[in-house]
Amino acid sequence: MRTQVGIVGAGPAGLLLSHLLHLRGIDSVILELRSRAYCESRVRAGVLEQGTVDILNAAGVGDRMRREGLPHLGIELRYGGAGHRIPFERLVPGRAITVYGQQEVVKDLIAARLEAGGAIHFEVPDVELHDLDTATPSITFQGQRLECDFIAGCDGFHGVSRPSIPEGVLTVYDRVYPFAWLGILARVKPSSEELIYAATDDGFALHSMRSPEVSRFYLQVPLDASLDDWPDERIWAELRNRLETVPGFTLASGPIMEKGITPMRSFVAEPMRYGRLFLAGDAAHIVPPTGAKGLNLAAADVRLLAEAIGHWYATGSADLLDGYSEACLKRVWRAQHFSWWMTTLLHTFESDDAYGRRLQRSYLDYVTSSEAAATTLAENYVGLPFEPFGTLDA
Ligand code: APR
Ligand code: PHB
Repeated sequence: MRTQVGIVGAGPAGLLLSHLLHLRGIDSVILELRSRAYCESRVRAGVLEQGTVDILNAAGVGDRMRREGLPHLGIELRYGGAGHRIPFERLVPGRAITVYGQQEVVKDLIAARLEAGGAIHFEVPDVELHDLDTATPSITFQGQRLECDFIAGCDGFHGVSRPSIPEGVLTVYDRVYPFAWLGILARVKPSSEELIYAATDDGFALHSMRSPEVSRFYLQVPLDASLDDWPDERIWAELRNRLETVPGFTLASGPIMEKGITPMRSFVAEPMRYGRLFLAGDAAHIVPPTGAKGLNLAAADVRLLAEAIGHWYATGSADLLDGYSEACLKRVWRAQHFSWWMTTLLHTFESDDAYGRRLQRSYLDYVTSSEAAATTLAENYVGLPFEPFGTLDA
């Protein structure tokens, strides 16, 4: 088999890259470990930055997102018995977020790729990468060999691509947090129009949503928590304990459709390239979900990778390919810092002493009272404008 770009992984990064390459007349083949049903049902992130919305709309895959996505012009920080809104419309006029489940983005992209005759091989268990440091890299799977000019490693944190890079090439930055998130999907009307980030002495809680009928919640839980520790009744009791902290707010409950525990990690592998292999998305970096950056970083990476590969086919110049990793990492590290900052601002750290907890409260008071501090949160949360790259303007 032969194609121009072999893509490992049919998550947001791999699917969006394949579509952006298609729009440039460049062929690709996606090899995905899991089934289509699994990829389309995984409940993951739910917040799209303004830039990600713009990419999807410009790529012609934003119709359902525009119909069903929920534009939000602010979020609430809730602590100390009061709620504090961060108003995007005042702090960063014209920029907002859209609440739209990652699995919906994946469904839209798979449909667009298949409608355009794109090649996606699902349930491929034995992908191996070869000759990455030559002009003729290839991927073997199920007794076949896919020859290509480039390979995009879009196979997430546990994929095969990053480990295919020889020892000594990558520099890895890694930080594990001393807690996890218990994520809950419940068939109940959201009790708030906007997202609520709640910091309490008992731990962090987040009220998000997926539609007017479906709510999405997260609870900070101990690192070793298991779902057995968290029957539905306890989940609702703890959500009420951490969210019903302001006068007049009552949390509605309903059937829990899905729950899962996710560890919290910050991770970056540099450079995001080895020879003809380019890493994008979670294959190269992981952020704690507090800042809702994971999906948006994946989209930002492949927006640049499609431009760099397109430039190579159009001109034979490798200058954008050579600049890909540095250009991605500038945005990656900004999002790493913001995600770490939001996590340390809002979570309860057992290692914190009384002084540390007072510093945290003082910072929350500052962010919710200073226009300058709140603008810092707002501009990072909705997503900073893209930097110029090739023909891509800021
Ligand atoms: N071979 C083929 N496919 C693989 C392999 C492999 N060895 N290993 C993993 N995959 C697939 C996974 O099944 C998954 O569908 O690669 C895909 C990677 O998708 P994601 O993990 O969603 O990563 P990415 O596309 O970078 O999107 C990042 O996803 O995990 C969330 O929080 C993260 O929101 C962020 C987004
Ligand atoms: C979600 O809706 O899944 C979500 C929202 C905001 C976050 C993380 C997750 O910071």
